Amino acid sequence: MVDTVPRQIITGQKIADHVKRLGDLYPPIPLDSVDRTVNNPDLVKQKYSNVLNYLARVELEVDRNVLELLVLLPDVDETNRMFYADVWQPQEIQHGLILDRLQQDLDMTPSEPHLDVSAKIKMLGALAHFEPIQDIAKLLYYLTGASTERQAVLAYNQLHTGLNEMGERAISETIISPIKQQEPGHFAFYQMSATAMVQNGELKPWQMFLARVLREKSYGLVGTNAMDRYKADMGAVVLDLGMEDGMDEYAREIGRVEARLLWANKQGMEVPPYIVKALRESVDLYRERAAREGSAG
Ligand SMILES: [Fe+2]
Ligand SMILES: [Fe+2]
Repeated sequence: MVDTVPRQIITGQKIADHVKRLGDLYPPIPLDSVDRTVNNPDLVKQKYSNVLNYLARVELEVDRNVLELLVLLPDVDETNRMFYADVWQPQEIQHGLILDRLQQDLDMTPSEPHLDVSAKIKMLGALAHFEPIQDIAKLLYYLTGASTERQAVLAYNQLHTGLNEMGERAISETIISPIKQQEPGHFAFYQMSATAMVQNGELKPWQMFLARVLREKSYGLVGTNAMDRYKADMGAVVLDLGMEDGMDEYAREIGRVEARLLWANKQGMEVPPYIVKALRESVDLYRERAAREGSAG
């Protein structure tokens, strides 16, 4: 049985309270509150330049995510508006600015966030003016949020442990630690919102069917933006965080919400296969690129 989450009814009020609590508990992290002292810049770069560069870019892409949301959900309600405008965007953009400053301290190139809304999203957005399609887009948006925020939680956990082990306590405790405290609340918002939609039966069977088809076809790991170069970058992150040997378990973690909500009827689908595939593809693309660059250089 896939479902290990206790069945509680998630009301709109509960989600709204959660958003309000996040806003009260976690103001955006000010840039001047962090200590960017690095003891061994060369070693930090050697181990984590791919990870820092990736995370900084993805966090800075929050502004595009907001545009996508407005395209996909033209009739966004107050709770969603409060989440993205008052909590999520202000927190994520600080994560990005702080990590980007850190990587520049380390003489790495500044992030170049990809800020164009894709043609695919625009097309889905055009269809989303038709309410039954917007409801599908909304569920997919929440599932994407749940999976990507879970990836953020796991990445920051690994990075925090790794930097502490290297004795880089200033950046692990004043940068990574406060960032990683803010990510689980984002995950919880998307997880609760997706669960509520399914619990309330907001989607008819044909809409659930279409949601499954679209999810399977369009799943992307965080920050990959359906582009090979970002997928290869993500492959480097997977390797540098030491997750290569645990990819199935990692896929289970980041796919838990959708396994429960979309695929509960499918016996044995505890780990959505399209997630495992996306992880393997990223690592393969990274290795191919490394081999090409190796042979070219
Ligand atoms: Fe973040
Ligand atoms: Fe987040």
